[in-house]
Amino acid sequence: MIYVIDFGSQTTHLIARRVKELGSPAEIIPPHKAIQAINTKKPQGIIFSGGPAGVYEKDAPTIDKAIFDVGVPMLAICYGFQLTAYLLGGKVVSGKKEYGPATLRIRNYELGIMKDLPKESTVWMSHGDEIIKLPDGFEVVGQTDHVPYAFATSTEKNITGVLFHPEVEHTQWGTTILKNFISVCEIVTKKHVIDVAAIEQGIREEVGERAYVIGAVSGGVDSTVAGILTAKAIGKRFVPIYVENGLMRSGTEEHVKKIFTEVAGIEPIVVNVVGEMLVRLKGILDPERKRKIIGNFYIEIFEQEMAKLLSSGLPVKFLMQGTIYSDVIESKGTKYAAKIKSHHNVGGLPKKMKLELLEPLRNFYKDEVREIGKKIGLPDSFIHKQPFPGPGYAVRIRGVVTEGRLTKERQADNIVLEELEKAGVLKDVFLSFPVLTGAFSTAVKGDGRFFGEVVAVRIVDSKDIMTAVWLRLPYDLLQIIATRIVNEVPGISRVVYDITTKPPATMEWE
Ligand code: XMP
Repeated sequence: MIYVIDFGSQTTHLIARRVKELGSPAEIIPPHKAIQAINTKKPQGIIFSGGPAGVYEKDAPTIDKAIFDVGVPMLAICYGFQLTAYLLGGKVVSGKKEYGPATLRIRNYELGIMKDLPKESTVWMSHGDEIIKLPDGFEVVGQTDHVPYAFATSTEKNITGVLFHPEVEHTQWGTTILKNFISVCEIVTKKHVIDVAAIEQGIREEVGERAYVIGAVSGGVDSTVAGILTAKAIGKRFVPIYVENGLMRSGTEEHVKKIFTEVAGIEPIVVNVVGEMLVRLKGILDPERKRKIIGNFYIEIFEQEMAKLLSSGLPVKFLMQGTIYSDVIESKGTKYAAKIKSHHNVGGLPKKMKLELLEPLRNFYKDEVREIGKKIGLPDSFIHKQPFPGPGYAVRIRGVVTEGRLTKERQADNIVLEELEKAGVLKDVFLSFPVLTGAFSTAVKGDGRFFGEVVAVRIVDSKDIMTAVWLRLPYDLLQIIATRIVNEVPGISRVVYDITTKPPATMEWE
């Protein structure tokens, strides 16, 4: 067993996931409960997560120094490393900032945790603070162009500190580092598999023998997989509902009907609120308010549907949502985590609800959800569909959402999708979309001055949503996309391509 001490990182849960995938049990423990947990059950290794605070900040999470004398191997990541350095007599300052990829150079050590690592590799960073003095007994083994103490160990204390994130997909040798750590901990590993039958059993137990569940299905992979699992678990007591709010991609309604009818033999109820949605969003500029308005409106609709079903004698008790872990953590899912944005199905919900939530995929990541989807028989073409945010185009239109701006966004979106498909690369794209940026720029159209809106195009690759890279598409393809958007979408003067990684930039613009 490895204890992962959670200092509020966006990736604490991902660390535990990786450890489990590598075949070791892992448990997430808050720092104030760590010593008690260790005294109750001693782990074979301890990992410190990162976190959003700075060690010198008031109220920054800390830990009892006794943890350093437990006598098991420790791996301290990012904030966890800074805290270790600080508590053991080193010095941390608000220093060089690194967000996204960096090149790590290590000395050629053959030592346990560095086994098989190349001398130079890409790691992902996300820190604003820096260690400028290591505690006594620590030795530097790796650095980047910006930070001299990116990777250090203390053989005597059996602690390794890394300023980068070995748990994220885009750190090239991250899995090797975690694998090495598990073997340094002398843990006997067991092959990890996702147990679909256990998820279904969990749904049956939570719902009980009689209750009905209404399902918020959007046609996306997450809510479809969650819906099909629920249908498999409780059969016709699951009632999928698709809300047509005018913010979805073209053809979504037909698609939702088809997949639920074909795979689960259940026809979803469709509720059309296109007009009312626009009324509710009228004049709203702030993205967090947009999400809250949409989240609240959804719950209103589902409660109305619940009332209808209750009056026809069906004991509806739950609302199923396709929430996945990246939605949860970005909405401040843990005590010390920062709120990045209130995903409309988590932080965007009203405080009081008549329906209880059923979220069978709450602890899974996108790539795991796709794996589950495959296991329950969803077609490949569907499983690899792009993610689409619940609040839809509303968070891809900066500023006010109007019918006219929705039409432009939809037109631009269709152009991007069509051109990616024509070029044969759509299947390799994790996520693509244009953003109506709300910024304006000058153009010359037909010899006249034209002052129009700037569209940004974002096309990225990712697996689990926690990190992403922009796609290096051929220039000619980008040119075709830009030309078509400025020519075909009214009011657009310019197209820019977003070349920012996540982190620091999130996938969506809002
Ligand atoms: P970000 O922009 O947070 O996006 O990096 C991560 C993933 O979540 C989707 N997304 C949302 N999904 N409700 C949702 O159901 C939301 O409020 C929301 N905001 C972002 C986004 O499309 C990406 O797949």
